[in-house]
Amino acid sequence: MNNFMKYKYLYIIILMVVILTNSCGDVSVESELPDNPTFAVDIAPILEKNCLPCHRENGAAPFSLSSYVAVKKRAKTIAKVTQKRIMPPWPADPNYSHFIGERVLSDRQIALIQKWVSQGAVEGNQKYVYRAKAMERSNIRKPDLVIPFDTVAMNEGDLDRFFISVANVSIPQKRYISALEFVPTEPGLVHHANGHLLLYKEGSKRLSLKWRRKVEARSEVNSDLFKGLGLEADDGSLPMRIHSAFNYLPGVQGIEYPNGIGAFEVTKDFAAVMNDVHYGPSDKKVVDRSVLNVFFTDVAPSRALSELMLGTNGVSKIVPPLVVPANRVTKHTTRYRISEDISVLTVNPHLHMLGKSFLAFAVKPNGDTIPLIRILRWNFNWQYFYTFKLMLKIPAGSEIVAVAEFDNTKGNPWNPNNPPKTVSERWDSGGASMRASDEMFQFIITYTLYKKGDEFVSLEKK
Ligand code: HEC
Repeated sequence: MNNFMKYKYLYIIILMVVILTNSCGDVSVESELPDNPTFAVDIAPILEKNCLPCHRENGAAPFSLSSYVAVKKRAKTIAKVTQKRIMPPWPADPNYSHFIGERVLSDRQIALIQKWVSQGAVEGNQKYVYRAKAMERSNIRKPDLVIPFDTVAMNEGDLDRFFISVANVSIPQKRYISALEFVPTEPGLVHHANGHLLLYKEGSKRLSLKWRRKVEARSEVNSDLFKGLGLEADDGSLPMRIHSAFNYLPGVQGIEYPNGIGAFEVTKDFAAVMNDVHYGPSDKKVVDRSVLNVFFTDVAPSRALSELMLGTNGVSKIVPPLVVPANRVTKHTTRYRISEDISVLTVNPHLHMLGKSFLAFAVKPNGDTIPLIRILRWNFNWQYFYTFKLMLKIPAGSEIVAVAEFDNTKGNPWNPNNPPKTVSERWDSGGASMRASDEMFQFIITYTLYKKGDEFVSLEKK
């Protein structure tokens, strides 16, 4: 027996160890790390960029991480949730497509946090002062106008509730609005909100901000409810309505596009209609004081935006139909061919609790694929409107394809039914049911008609 045969197993073990250590890639990452990382020098800048947008006073997260003391208190949990990539929440796969505000920690940053925590989460000699001042409940900038909606007191119980609420606004002169941002105070409670703006002809209605009305829809949005809200002008005429002027879903943050893109003019007297704010069930009494932040611009509107919705309630059918039998994992596709060249700004995948994964791309007439978004592990909590860094051209004749998987087994921790029950889209008079325990499969694209050179138009505010 030669030596190789004799030590065969030893060789194999050594070979495996070499392969394993190299393939983890951590060896090189760790060797670059500082010996004694500190909060001030190493950690705070990572948190400021990736966590503070939510973990600040009045942010979307339940606690602030804006001081060393606050961070130190939770150091172990921070190490855990960053290593598991639960935080920062960014469901989109960065290996598939990129978006503005992408929040994904690098392997090195994660290793740095681990090392810092394992050494006792030291502050260091310097103090770190976060540059970002506490923002006024906005992810855009200080709003020019804040419209408060009615305070809604929630009863305890397992009922979904839907409200329509109107707030009237008078401003000294007509202006351009560059962005609207709906901010709930109880993000865990608000499942979605969708709003219209009503524009009144000058002098046709006397309004004041104090004038507000609210009605509760029994279980679903019902257009009859608009009657009795007094939306007509004083002369009986109806205002012009801008549909879906603002939208909110968990994780959605307002966007202000540069250069007048998507801006629109509002009259002196206008009203914001929160046409369907949906509160999920709650086990305690909670009060929500949602606001609508309004941002004005002096730049005249240049490009109007449109929305294309595939799937539930949208322009394309779901194949096979969206029925997810108990104890099954199913896969569904929806496709739509566009007839004009478009420039895409944002995409928004939307599923409910049984969502498992999501994939969307466009197939050009020549067969090439344009990746749009991939979410390997669906998370109901985080449903962003993902904004591309540059406008993305999709040529006429392309087919937009979205594929979603649903997991209706016990293994899905979000499953609203235990034991699992068959779940599907449910249809009421006004369209598909939006209850979180029913399913939806939507893919929403915000776009504008393509103009030459759009590929080079950055959507990032400088
Ligand atoms: C987009 C908003 C957002 C960002 C960005 C964000 N978080 Fe969170 N975080 C939340 C919300 C909301 C919760 C509570 C709900 C939940 O756990 O999903 C939370 C929960 C947590 C928790 C508690 C988890 C537990 O199991 O108790 C920790 C720790 C945490 N975040 C740390 C971080 C760190 C560290 C970062 C940055 C690296 C970060 N978060 C970025 C929104 C955010």
